[in-house]
Amino acid sequence: FDRGLLAGQHVVITAGPTREAIDPVRYISNHSSGKMGYSLAEAAIDAGAQVTLISGPVNLPAPARCQRVMVESAEQMLEASLNHVSQCDIFIASAAVADYRPAAIAEHKMKKGKEEIMELHLVKNPDIVATVAALENKPFTVGFAAETKDVIGYAQGKLVRKNLDLIIANDVSRSDIGFNSDDNAVSVISIDSIKELPLCSKRQLAAKLVEIIAQAQTGSAKP
Ligand code: PMT
Repeated sequence: FDRGLLAGQHVVITAGPTREAIDPVRYISNHSSGKMGYSLAEAAIDAGAQVTLISGPVNLPAPARCQRVMVESAEQMLEASLNHVSQCDIFIASAAVADYRPAAIAEHKMKKGKEEIMELHLVKNPDIVATVAALENKPFTVGFAAETKDVIGYAQGKLVRKNLDLIIANDVSRSDIGFNSDDNAVSVISIDSIKELPLCSKRQLAAKLVEIIAQAQTGSAKP
């Protein structure tokens, strides 16, 4: 695609999982590999953008010509996002952020006791993409929706509730797409349109998504 498509634009992308510590050796997390977010970062760089990639713990090298900020928890990802978002034109939230975290992190490794059932108290994490979308100087804000049923309906709900400009819905009940796979198939949803992007590699998909986001941001075309 056009290598100058995002020239002069600053794009901030969140990627990968978050880790929510239980004690010094244990955490709650998910299967996000970061592949989708890192592919988006590469595609945005190829389109001429200045890219900041805010990444949870993943086994991927930092893309060339990209500022990468490594974080662990949702609270750290929020702080890093707010630190970089003020000058940004486009914010893409592809990270799989834990909705809840342990209410307290044990100072020492928790010991196995006699009890058969152990309860863990969780508290809600801040919603990063919704916080960014609520800023006065809101960038063009794109979320993802990972759903296992009613994919379009739930994604439309998140688009409206989180005040997003676009949401990219993937059906994560399928093992060939979504978490950790090399391929993905998504629906790109705006307030008045739905566009299906069929199965392809995350790299190819990222290039198409960057094109759609750039067009939607300038208002030149509906996705
Ligand atoms: O990393 P890969 O292995 O390549 O997998 C890619 C992916 C499946 C993780 C990716 O395509 C994807 O769907 N990412 C979003 C996963 C997710 O957490 O979806 P959600 O429906 O729970 O969240 C909706 C949106 O809110 C997302 O943009 C998410 O980043 C954001 N969110 C959620 C919770 C929270 N506390 N803060 C957020 O910003």
